[in-house]
Amino acid sequence: MHLSAAVLSFGSSLLIIKTVLASTLLPRQDTPTAYYLQTRTLDTSSNKNSLFATASETSFGINDMILTSNITNASQGYFNDTHQYFNLDPAHTWGLNLGLDADHDAWEPVTIRFGQGTSGFRIGFNTLEWSGRDEGNGGWMACDWIHGVPQLFWRYAYFAYPIPCSCADVTMELVPIQGDQVKSGIY
Ligand SMILES: *[C@@H]1O[C@H](CO)[C@@H](O)[C@H](O)[C@H]1NC(C)=O
Ligand SMILES: *[C@@H]1O[C@H](CO)[C@@H](O)[C@H](O)[C@H]1NC(C)=O
Ligand SMILES: *[C@@H]1O[C@H](CO)[C@@H](O)[C@H](O)[C@H]1NC(C)=O
Repeated sequence: MHLSAAVLSFGSSLLIIKTVLASTLLPRQDTPTAYYLQTRTLDTSSNKNSLFATASETSFGINDMILTSNITNASQGYFNDTHQYFNLDPAHTWGLNLGLDADHDAWEPVTIRFGQGTSGFRIGFNTLEWSGRDEGNGGWMACDWIHGVPQLFWRYAYFAYPIPCSCADVTMELVPIQGDQVKSGIY
């Protein structure tokens, strides 16, 4: 506070230097054009670690986000304007959709649907994040559920239930896809 007030009072030339310095010192982070999302758990021996996000159709235009160890089965994701998309087929836009709290559940489903999906995503330190805690975001959670492979959920921050034993807290890390492997039709 005091420092920035002092810098401001020195006038515009110092401000320019300050801006240039800031942009050289901050690490540059480019979001890859296309990427897979991969789980990372705090305990790397967890069977929820290093799994790739992929879509499992549950009804027309709606998929649960499930997690597979096989990268060949992973869905290609891309980011645009606070939305997370997946290239499931070139004919449709598939957005990542967060189920919103309706009945005071401690966690909510994560689906991939026709359309833009939920807004307010951002790429943090190479991870996919959703808004802030103010929106109720308590982070991603991978659980053994109904698909035979783990499924992704998000935790609602305002219900401090202990995590179920078949679940693990995860971050979703970006794994860039090389240019010649990027599927067409996502630009
Ligand atoms: C990968 O996808 C194939 C074809 O859909 C499926 O048979 C197989 O079980 C999947 N493997 C994993 C590890 O999810
Ligand atoms: C991964 O999935 C591909 C395509 O479904 C399949 O051909 C391959 O055998 C799988 N690899 C493993 C290790 O399961
Ligand atoms: C990216 O977002 C902009 C603004 O919301 C939109 O006009 C454009 O169609 C989007 N592009 C893709 C590939 O989704």
